[in-house]
Amino acid sequence: MSSLSEILLKVQKENRAIGHFNISNLEALWGIFNAARKLGAPVIIGTSEGERDFIGARQAVALVKSLREEFDYPIFINADHTYSFDRVKEAVDLGYDAVIFDGTELPFEENVKITKRCVDYAKKINPEIIVEAELGFIGKSSKVLDEIPSGVKITEEFLTKAKEAKEFAQRTGLDLMAPAVGNIHGMLKGGKDPALNIERIREIRKSAGIPLVLHGGSGNSAQDFTDAISAGVSIVHISTEIRVAYRKGLQIALQENPDEVAPYKYLKEAMKAVEKVAEEKLKIFNKIK
Ligand code: G3H
Ligand code: ZN
Repeated sequence: MSSLSEILLKVQKENRAIGHFNISNLEALWGIFNAARKLGAPVIIGTSEGERDFIGARQAVALVKSLREEFDYPIFINADHTYSFDRVKEAVDLGYDAVIFDGTELPFEENVKITKRCVDYAKKINPEIIVEAELGFIGKSSKVLDEIPSGVKITEEFLTKAKEAKEFAQRTGLDLMAPAVGNIHGMLKGGKDPALNIERIREIRKSAGIPLVLHGGSGNSAQDFTDAISAGVSIVHISTEIRVAYRKGLQIALQENPDEVAPYKYLKEAMKAVEKVAEEKLKIFNKIK
């Protein structure tokens, strides 16, 4: 089976992107895995620090790897948005396939310094691991929003600059970069986020020389995804839409079956709702009709 770095090369050649979906529990994992398998698409499961603490970081790794082994399937696990070297180290030591240091709230020099420390440590322990870091603040929460998150500005002058991206990539040696290109974490009420700056994605990809990751994918249009992938995005993150689908699925199941007490029965609806969202997104990212 191909490694994550091999799949990253392949999707770039084929003008596709790998879908990355966050989970808090086993039914979401099954929903995403079922969607990926149905389409034959590689997939990355993300766990933020909070999600890792809830599932258990070691258990999250074991769950994803058990699917990979049992089904001989390209499913990988990423330690999403990790805010300190110590927590990056923990994820690397536990066998995560990929890890993200999120220093977007730090001054540039501090972000470079800690990212480089994370890259050096991760590669020493596991040369196969994929290390990502972020440049440009896009908000912090995967939730339904009333307005653009505070501290985020999506006008051109506030987006990640191609020149800075180049310096950041060269000084840290990271594998993947997550820039601010008009994307926001979370999704505006009504489900439509602002358009992405495709030209800026193209410029950053060219100057940084490494594949880009689009965070905050919930609420972006199919056309924006397609254009962003053509411009240099190789992984797309979706969380809020998965969370919304899970909750709605669960709510409907509980309403329709008020006396049902078997979790494996009512949670099935939440799982199916997650599967539906993951399938829709994976079709777009992988150009499947
Ligand atoms: O890392 C997680 C993502 O960037 C998810 O963002 O909640 O806007 O889909 P989202
Ligand atoms: Zn993110």
